[in-house]
Amino acid sequence: MSKRRRKLAEPKVLITQKDLDARVSELAQQISADYADKGELVLIGVLKGAFIFLADLSRKLTIPRHIEFIAVSSYEHGNVPSGAVRLVMDVRASIEGRHVLIVEDIVDTGHTLHYLTDMLQSRGPASIRNCVLLHKEHMTEVDIDIDYLGFTIGDEWVVGYGLDYAEKDRTLPYIGAIKPGD
Ligand code: IMP
Ligand code: MG
Repeated sequence: MSKRRRKLAEPKVLITQKDLDARVSELAQQISADYADKGELVLIGVLKGAFIFLADLSRKLTIPRHIEFIAVSSYEHGNVPSGAVRLVMDVRASIEGRHVLIVEDIVDTGHTLHYLTDMLQSRGPASIRNCVLLHKEHMTEVDIDIDYLGFTIGDEWVVGYGLDYAEKDRTLPYIGAIKPGD
């Protein structure tokens, strides 16, 4: 592959590292204010995509917090997501009576967040909200409220800051848009 071709395949910068950092700080400030005096907040990061967002967000909070992870995968019919979601790895701690914040990288159709909210809600938390870095608002198929949102984006495939395309580009420091197949 020539140098020129490699360069052309690089993701287009959509959100810079600086803008991510500033927005994550604002979200952390707002969450810290909203949960002040409510005791410990249980942050549940949705693997794998949310791991960097959760790491940055959690370190900027000024309230007591407890970190958990959960992993899900979407059922596919061929290559097409069916909308059904399967739990791959559960949280370790009980969330009964505790304040819970689901931390998710991106809401696309909304099925994943909808499934997780329903499932975790059934365990009797004191409250449950979500914090989502990116929302493809025109793609969302289910009725879902995002409590804390980083950025609204269009219908493009994005990578970096935890998000991947076929496991590639997860650790880019910025959010980039790619054309699948690049
Ligand atoms: P949803 O259930 O359709 O809302 O999809 C949510 C999940 O699909 C996210 O948690 C991501 O793991 C993945 N996803 C959706 N769009 C993108 C994208 O543009 N880049 C990377 N992952 C994505
Ligand atoms: Mg995800």
